[in-house]
Amino acid sequence: MACAPRIGFLTDFVPLYQDFENFYTRNLYMRIRDNWNRPVCSVPGERVDIMERFTDDYNWTFKFTGRVIKGVINMGSYNYLGFAQNSGFCAEASAVVLQQYGGGVCSTRQEMGNLDKHEELEHLVAEFLGVDAAMTYGMGFATNSMNIPALAGKGCLILSDELNHASLVLGARLSGATIRIFKHNNMQSLEKLLRDAIVHGQPRTHRPWRKILILVEGIYSMEGSIVRLPEVIALKKKYKAYLYLDEAHSIGALGPNGRGVVDYFGLDPRDVDIMMGTFTKSFGGAGGYIGGSKVLIDYLRKHSHSTAYATSMSPPVAEQIITSMKCIMGADGTSLGRERVEQLAENTRYFRRRLTEMGFIIYGNSDSPVVPLMLYMPAKIGAFGREMLKRHIGVVVVGFPATPIIESRARFCVSAAHTKEMLDEALSKISEVGDLLQLKYSRHHFVPLLDRPFDETTYEETED
Ligand SMILES: Cc1ncc(COP(=O)(O)O)c(C=O)c1O
Repeated sequence: MACAPRIGFLTDFVPLYQDFENFYTRNLYMRIRDNWNRPVCSVPGERVDIMERFTDDYNWTFKFTGRVIKGVINMGSYNYLGFAQNSGFCAEASAVVLQQYGGGVCSTRQEMGNLDKHEELEHLVAEFLGVDAAMTYGMGFATNSMNIPALAGKGCLILSDELNHASLVLGARLSGATIRIFKHNNMQSLEKLLRDAIVHGQPRTHRPWRKILILVEGIYSMEGSIVRLPEVIALKKKYKAYLYLDEAHSIGALGPNGRGVVDYFGLDPRDVDIMMGTFTKSFGGAGGYIGGSKVLIDYLRKHSHSTAYATSMSPPVAEQIITSMKCIMGADGTSLGRERVEQLAENTRYFRRRLTEMGFIIYGNSDSPVVPLMLYMPAKIGAFGREMLKRHIGVVVVGFPATPIIESRARFCVSAAHTKEMLDEALSKISEVGDLLQLKYSRHHFVPLLDRPFDETTYEETED
């Protein structure tokens, strides 16, 4: 008798997983789970130290051996410009700020948490982006998920790329706006949605949409593709929509001045209505920003949940961003930042070219430092991750649900901090494991795409 209500209580819940996800979790994920969440015990620089662990119950639990795998070449962190450092001018300046301000702010921007460091950072971000004003937040994910609901709502239409990051998806869902999805980086698909939206208006009433907001990313983190920004801007102007650009992976990492995808295409930042990005990658810090017109930023300062309810950014983190951003801009009086931007571009092209020559299939744009190497078969995820770590190369492997189940991949992130020797060592180990696991799937000779714009269907070509 005592059990009956309990069973009823349990079965009343919506299942946590759909049937297939449950099957996947039990039969696949558990067997390769050791490849994720490995505890790192050093700065996530060009090399990392990883705590060695083992399992004696088929990956249900892990125990530490007490040993540390030292000096693993880090091909997984988003440390594009090599600012993830525990020494050097950024770390030193942050340490001074830590002594002066402490680590936490203990209040929101609207209350006692509006420090001079935050104001300094926001002026700098606006200058860096080439926009009127900017607002910064303690978390990149919350920058999207908490600001999109302030910008769109009922009666608005959000047009979202099918591969947009979870934070954009969550923000769109929380906004209450109608969401329609267009094919990844596909301008025909986007234009069709825009045209239909103008022609038909809102469902049932056919009233015009209050606002149409297009959500795109600069570099897509699982594909390595770069948004077709000139075309997106042309479409948004043609159909009088608004554009929200998430530069989490592209800011710092793209463009001759490291100012992201707008800089890469030589466009005017004022053509993008909402410039969003994070400090977690190229700047080696944490948090996010929104840049745009003064009207937009003033509005967000009042209406964004993350301004009103979230504690503001830790001051040493703000200093890390200020110093690294000034370095990229050359405002520190050195050419160090520019050299890092150039080094990243050179490393990216070298790494991508060598992988292609070896016969791997890699996705994305040749200028993207995010480099997905296709493994396809889910069983190869575990094997690749483990074999690479055995050879002291740290990689991120990705599978379902982040990718379609038969499009498993390894996702490398190239850094300006990688030396040629490190890249060569990583490449020779990747080649070795590629032979071992039969990953060199490409049967074609590679022809560089030269000036042709990137198309996700043309990442490789035959010469014949
Ligand atoms: C496109 C995109 N937007 C937003 C975020 C969230 O940023 P953060 O990790 O700084 O919270 C990420 C994180 O990887 C991202 O890739």
